[in-house]
Amino acid sequence: MNKKYRRVIIAGNWKMNKLPSEVKPFLEELKDAIPEHTPGCSIVLCVPATHLASMSREKHRRIGIGAQNVSQFDKGAHTGEISVDMIDDLGARYCIVGHSERRADNGDTDEIVNAKVHALLNRHITPILCVGESLEQRDRGLTIEHITYQVKAALYGLEPEQVKKVVIAYEPIWAIGTGRTATDEQAQEVCFAIRELLRREYSAMVSRKVCILYGGSMNAKNCAGLLAQPDIDGGLIGGASLKVEDFAVIVREGSRAE
Ligand code: PGA
Repeated sequence: MNKKYRRVIIAGNWKMNKLPSEVKPFLEELKDAIPEHTPGCSIVLCVPATHLASMSREKHRRIGIGAQNVSQFDKGAHTGEISVDMIDDLGARYCIVGHSERRADNGDTDEIVNAKVHALLNRHITPILCVGESLEQRDRGLTIEHITYQVKAALYGLEPEQVKKVVIAYEPIWAIGTGRTATDEQAQEVCFAIRELLRREYSAMVSRKVCILYGGSMNAKNCAGLLAQPDIDGGLIGGASLKVEDFAVIVREGSRAE
């Protein structure tokens, strides 16, 4: 496998943090802290839906706009939901789908995740599909089995050409927000297994093209080792994306890893 077929993606996941008014100062500081050109490395910030308009106003060519969730329905009687068209209109080019926090807090099932992936791809927005095992599943040796199930379910019914456009983020639940990162080897093992699964289910070409990220307590200190792994094409970064200095270190590392 060769990384030259893929770009690196460094994506921040702000979760439910910061205010819309904090977007502008953050972006201004970030622009100064990252390289002027990062060819081969895409930088994305996935912000709450309420912040998308500010992101879009402050839009910068170096920083892609991402949402954290979207409705699987097109439009209509779905009070409180936000459609793919709405985030598209605000300039979102990426959207996180199936994050473990949404699976746990909001009942996003594999079926719903699959519907959201379809809805996003139909509108040419890149889904960042999150998959990951619990600590119990890891301890019982069920990691690969579980990840295989989640990836297959989320991609169900897609054409190979569409699968190439999906970004997959491997996020072990036990590593999210805990400060307990997967080791480079643990993360690489699962990302490799995902790539092998794509090769078996689709083709070698599809598996070479799909960007696979690692997420779960990635930070300025541990990012270099993780990003150096052959099957890890970037990161989905929560806590460390809230501070410009930390996120900028990861972006710089990502630009080197391309
Ligand atoms: P974390 O979150 O970096 O704070 O662990 C990652 C994520 O949940 O996307």
